[in-house]
This record gives sequence, structure tokens and C-alpha cells, in this order.
Amino acid sequence: MTAKINRRNWLKATSLTSAGLAMGTSTSLFATTNNSLQLNEHRQFWEWENTTLIPPRDLWNLKARLLANENPYGPSPSARLTIMESVATGNRYGQGDAAKLIEMIAEKEGVSKEYIMLGPGSSDLLEKTAITHFLEGGNIVSADPAYMSIIKTAQNMKAEWKSVPLTPTWEHDLDGMEKAIDAKTQLVYICNPNNPTGTITDGKKLWAFCSKVADKKPVFVDEAYLEFMDPKDQHSMVGLLNEGKNVIISRTFSKGHGMAGIRVGYIVALPSTLEKIQTITRSNMSMNVTAVKGAMASMKDTGFVESCRIKNKACRTYVCEELSKLGYEYLPSHTSFVLFPIAISGDAYLKKMFAESIGVRAFKVFGKDYCRVSIGTMEEMKLFVDAFKKVMV
Ligand SMILES: Cc1ncc(COP(=O)(O)O)c(C=O)c1O
Repeated sequence: MTAKINRRNWLKATSLTSAGLAMGTSTSLFATTNNSLQLNEHRQFWEWENTTLIPPRDLWNLKARLLANENPYGPSPSARLTIMESVATGNRYGQGDAAKLIEMIAEKEGVSKEYIMLGPGSSDLLEKTAITHFLEGGNIVSADPAYMSIIKTAQNMKAEWKSVPLTPTWEHDLDGMEKAIDAKTQLVYICNPNNPTGTITDGKKLWAFCSKVADKKPVFVDEAYLEFMDPKDQHSMVGLLNEGKNVIISRTFSKGHGMAGIRVGYIVALPSTLEKIQTITRSNMSMNVTAVKGAMASMKDTGFVESCRIKNKACRTYVCEELSKLGYEYLPSHTSFVLFPIAISGDAYLKKMFAESIGVRAFKVFGKDYCRVSIGTMEEMKLFVDAFKKVMV
């Protein structure tokens, strides 16, 4: 059995008909399956937060916490030191430091500082973008499955989600997405690499798509996991801004820099787009001075992110090999997590894994249950594999 799963092969083996797939362009597949991805995703959190099954305090006591794509190595030593030292300046607002961080990011991204907006994590910027782009409703076009943050906020702003299923090789169906765009489309959302699949869409094809589509509609490209890709595959879409294209690129310090709980992210966009986002939302006032200083220190520590990438790849390869040995297929991941189909319901699986003190996530993708395991340290991945063998084999 080839371990890397190809969706075409899997689809052949399921009851999902090609007619059902065709519906996906204008009506989400999940609409036909009772919006299971969204409900499932939020139900997991709801269970953790509101039931005795997995009380939130226990998330700190897990043997392996592999459920939120957190980087187990961060923050970098120099970021930690800077954050500790900067606590003493916490009586002051941090606009000056935020302005310095913006300058550093602008230089790294090859744009001027008017193109950068900071947020306490990229979630904040995904939400602010959705709030300001869907004031009049309309629709958002994205892949299915996708990272749901911007889509959920858009839906809460009364926008419609026009979902386009990923291709059989788990890439964005760029032609399908272009066809799905209509007069009411306010934003096109691409997550590359994609969450929860971990798969990528070819950088050259994506560049051509963004270049064409952004002349008509703003294209938001979420690059949260870019740092985990092999350097030769890391094709950021930021360069399109130098061609005047209306793209919005989000990046975060949560993943590659290991600062998820510290909260720093940014978007790179045309100044006119940032003006629109800032008409009803504020920018640097949401920033925490310790986080901002920590982010600057982490940017200067250039070896840290690279060392995380290398360790992440070794641990990911280990998990994939172990899954293969057990006869499990998995999606080819370029990120800090791996998605693979499981033969029992997600709820039952989570109960078993959490009973072993291993925190993972379960998703429904096209009606089938999948586990998403985040990549932790090698020790954590061994604990995951041991528990998985115990409960699933
Ligand atoms: C694809 C993607 N985008 C954005 C985020 C949000 O990250 P943060 O708000 O920590 O920057 C996440 C978090 O898991 C993610 O997976």
C-alpha cells in the first residue's frame, strides 16, 4: 500500500459520488453533510471546554500535546530573554516598538512599511479582514476543507461560503475557484500550505492565479506554515504586491518562531487595503510590548526557525513511516502536522487517545474521519505512536 494518500483513490473507495463532488463548486460539500467540518471542529473545542471529557486544565498535563500545531521548541532562547527583560517596560504603551517591528518586517518582505499591519496573532488579522470586507455580506470563495477562521467570521457577518473541494491530489482547485467567483464575491481565501490537510498548491500556479484574480477581487493568502516547507518550495505571494496586485498575505510568529501563546502576526497588503481594514478596527493598540520585543529578538535569531524546520521534518518523517508500517495512509504534509484517515469515529478516537493522555484532533473530511496529529518533539511522537498502536492496532 502506498502510504501517501491520493484523494482520487480514496474517493473511488467511498460512497461519495462524482455528482456529489460536482455540487461542491457552488454549494459546500459540508452543506450536504450537515456542515460537519465546522460543527465538528467547534464541537471538539466545545467538548474540551464544557464537558468532563477533556477539561481545559488537563491540556497542560497531557503527556503529548499534539492538537494545535504548536511548535514544541519555542520561543527561541533570545526571545525568551528579551521578553523577560521587557516586562519591566510593561507600564508603557508599545507603539514605538511596534513601529520598529514593522520596519524589520518590511525590510524582510521587501516592501515599504505602509504595507504592513501587525496583530496579536494572525487570527486577529483574519478576523479584522473578514469584518471589514463583509460589512455588506456577499460571499467568500475558498477551498474545502480549509482553515475556518476567516470563513467563520465572514459567515457571522452574513456572508455565504462558496467552497470548492480540493483536487484529488489535495491542491486548491484554482480553475474551480475562479469559476466560483461572482459579482458578490468580496474575498478569495487561500491557505498554502493548507490546514487541516498539510498539503500544498504549486507556487507557480498559485502566483498566476493570484495575479489574474487579484485584478478583480482581493485574494487573501494565509502562509502560516510557510517556514516548515523545504526552502526550495517556499513561494510567498508577497512579491505580487510589488506588481500592485490586491493580495493580502498573512504570516505568524506562532508556528515557525514558536510563539503561539505570545501572540504576534502580521499581514502584508496594499496600503489602500490596510486603510480599509483600519477604518473600523485599530492596529498597533492591540499589541503587547513584550510580544513585540520578543518577535524582534526572534527575527534576529535567524538559525532558530531553520533548526525548528529541520527537527519538525525529522519527527514528521518518523510518524509517517510508523503510520505506513501500521498500514495507515496519510496526506503528504509540508507542515507541522499530518492528517490521516482513521477507521473509527473521531469522537471515539479522541476519547481513546485522551485516555492515554495524548492530545490530537479529529476532523471529518468529505464524510470520513481523520486524525490530525501535530508534530511535537521526537519523544512526544514516540508517545503518540505507542498510544496509537495500543488503541488502534
Ligand atoms: C492556517 C492558519 N492560519 C492562521 C492561524 C492562526 O494562528 P495565530 O493566530 O496564532 O497567528 C492558524 C493557527 O493554527 C492556522 O493554522
